[in-house]
Amino acid sequence: MKIKNICCIGAGYVGGPTMAVVAQKCPHINVTIVDINAARIAAWNDADLNKLPIFEPGLDEVVKEARGRNLFFSTDIDKAIDEADMIFISVNTPTKTYGKGKGMAADLKYIELCARQIAQVAKSDKIVVEKSTLPVRTASAIKNILENTGNGVNFQILSNPEFLAEGTAVQDLLNPDRVLIGGDTTEAGKKAIQALVDIYAHWVPKERILTTNVWSSELSKLTANAFLAQRVSSINAMSELCEKSGADVNEVSKAIGMDSRIGSKFLKASVGFGGSCFQKDILNLVYIAKTYGLTKVANYWEQVIIMNDHQKQRFSDNIVSTLFNTVSGKKITFLGWAFKKDTNDTRESAAIKVADNLLNEQAKLSVYDPKVVAERIYADLDYLNTRSEEENRSLLTVAQDPYEASKDSHAIAVLTEWDEFKTYDWQKIYDGMHKPAFVFDGRGILDMAHLKAIGFECYTIGKG
Ligand code: UDX
Ligand code: UDX
Repeated sequence: MKIKNICCIGAGYVGGPTMAVVAQKCPHINVTIVDINAARIAAWNDADLNKLPIFEPGLDEVVKEARGRNLFFSTDIDKAIDEADMIFISVNTPTKTYGKGKGMAADLKYIELCARQIAQVAKSDKIVVEKSTLPVRTASAIKNILENTGNGVNFQILSNPEFLAEGTAVQDLLNPDRVLIGGDTTEAGKKAIQALVDIYAHWVPKERILTTNVWSSELSKLTANAFLAQRVSSINAMSELCEKSGADVNEVSKAIGMDSRIGSKFLKASVGFGGSCFQKDILNLVYIAKTYGLTKVANYWEQVIIMNDHQKQRFSDNIVSTLFNTVSGKKITFLGWAFKKDTNDTRESAAIKVADNLLNEQAKLSVYDPKVVAERIYADLDYLNTRSEEENRSLLTVAQDPYEASKDSHAIAVLTEWDEFKTYDWQKIYDGMHKPAFVFDGRGILDMAHLKAIGFECYTIGKG
């Protein structure tokens, strides 16, 4: 089966870059990305590539090459569904905020809405691909809806989870460690799998394209994220022990990472992991395990989240205790708000919780992030509902550069590992601050010997 038209529902951090790369690598396939958010689609269509709704290194070049040729962004969802042979569902699946499974289970309402819309519109056979990360066995729910509410056409459901990491999305898509495709083991299922394999085979070596049954594919994505997050919580747990014992977590990471069985990646201690996926997916895994009555399995994975919450809490506690047990009325500067460098995404960023804790202690915050806009920062705080929107705006200011942000502050906290933070004129920053001037490096990126020589009082995560 040759695919000529692809539709992707959801023009977000996953759908946007993924489909842009598919379009770039498969000029013979028309790719239309649709979204209910008209402002987002308008931004994807903006002539000024600096205004794309998400920032990813290299993405502008990919969009420039394919947009208008075989890559289209639209709000006409019905038309795109109707024309497509293959439909990717890439809408968000946030943690439920209501009802059964509140605070844990994935909210599948958008997925279900998509399935119902596809069923209603489709007048020819379609392959429906789950791109969003979903709880294991969601494919059967989608199949059920499609088959019971559709127009009698045939649907094949595939699971094709996306493993890209933000900040390196384009590189990850161009050169993935593996592509995973799960589908039915029937003849029709195998044909659908092959149709998707053929698309990826335009740029991904065949041996890196794995095919499995649907349930393995769905569960592999949750498992991968759980293992990655677990590594971060494990090294963060050791960072606290390092601080107490006089060890240095970077030295420990290096020493263990050289063991090829452990490997060197994902061993950087931090103020805590963030991002739209890790916490959500582990909570989801915990919920699924509980649903099957596997309490020990659920408790085991829940510890990864508990450790991560602890890491954020102890970072802010340490700032308060170091600043002579009070930050009330003191200006504290945040360098970074994004959940990691090279992205403007702030979902679940550690900075949000650390800021909330410090605001509870009546600190005044000044934030500088190279890519995150002020509205986003305020929206993140308002969402917590800890204090009024007016209070958030009067207690926290967003600065346009690091020197303005740090002027007259008592302490600087590094929350994101942006490379540019290493290149600042730290003497100039020091000169503008109250003394003693403190630096709390939650990412372990600054040259502390240099900062100490200037006169800063320094704390680095995981250093005794
Ligand atoms: C990611 C992953 O796709 C998913 O695996 C994970 O479960 C949640 O986060 P992401 O692309 O980062 O999704 O989400 P987001 O940037 O929020 O994009 C989702 C888009 O879907 C939004 O632009 C939203 O407007 C759109 N959407 C949502 C629809 O078009 N229709 C809907 O019914 C719901
Ligand atoms: C993650 C997975 O890596 C990706 O495969 C999946 O598709 C989506 O979820 P993402 O959340 O975009 O990607 O970024 P990632 O690089 O995994 O970082 C997640 C968080 O962990 C960030 O806050 C990052 O700063 C933190 N982290 C990562 C650490 O604190 N230490 C590390 O060593 C690595």
